[in-house]
Amino acid sequence: MLFSNEYEQDIKPTDITSRLDFVRLIDQNNWKVGVEVGSFEGKFSEHLLENSSLDVLYSIAKWADRNGDSEVYPPMRSRMACRKRLRKYGKRSVMIQKESLSASWDFPNKHFDFIYIDAGHDSLSVLSDLGI
Ligand SMILES: C[S@@+](CC[C@H](N)C(=O)[O-])C[C@H]1O[C@@H](n2cnc3c(N)ncnc32)[C@H](O)[C@@H]1O
Repeated sequence: MLFSNEYEQDIKPTDITSRLDFVRLIDQNNWKVGVEVGSFEGKFSEHLLENSSLDVLYSIAKWADRNGDSEVYPPMRSRMACRKRLRKYGKRSVMIQKESLSASWDFPNKHFDFIYIDAGHDSLSVLSDLGI
């Protein structure tokens, strides 16, 4: 398992100093259904699936030109990289290519045990993804 450091006992959300340790909260709380909003090349989705007992992780991104994808990496290539990285998880991994808000309408309330938001990083996008 890949953690920022080793813990012997249960951790509280406030103990987390690296997002890598988030997987410990997942298994500790027996969370089974999660979503990463903004998956880019799927590296963090892979970390979540590899190091937890999640039943299913939805990896959502628009993989389009706005908000930096094309500057960092051509969007099509980032989507393909994500697919390549996550396909080994079979049905545990579901990739959805949509705008975050639009994707949120596809799920009923309380569908997810957790929602990890890492899409647009400007304040308007973050507030919008939080539904504020
Ligand atoms: C910062 S990267 C995510 C990095 C990824 N979470 C990781 O840790 O490897 C942002 C991603 O969010 C996606 N994105 C940005 N705004 C979005 C939106 N409104 N809806 C869906 N995806 C969005 C981009 O396509 C990109 O894949």
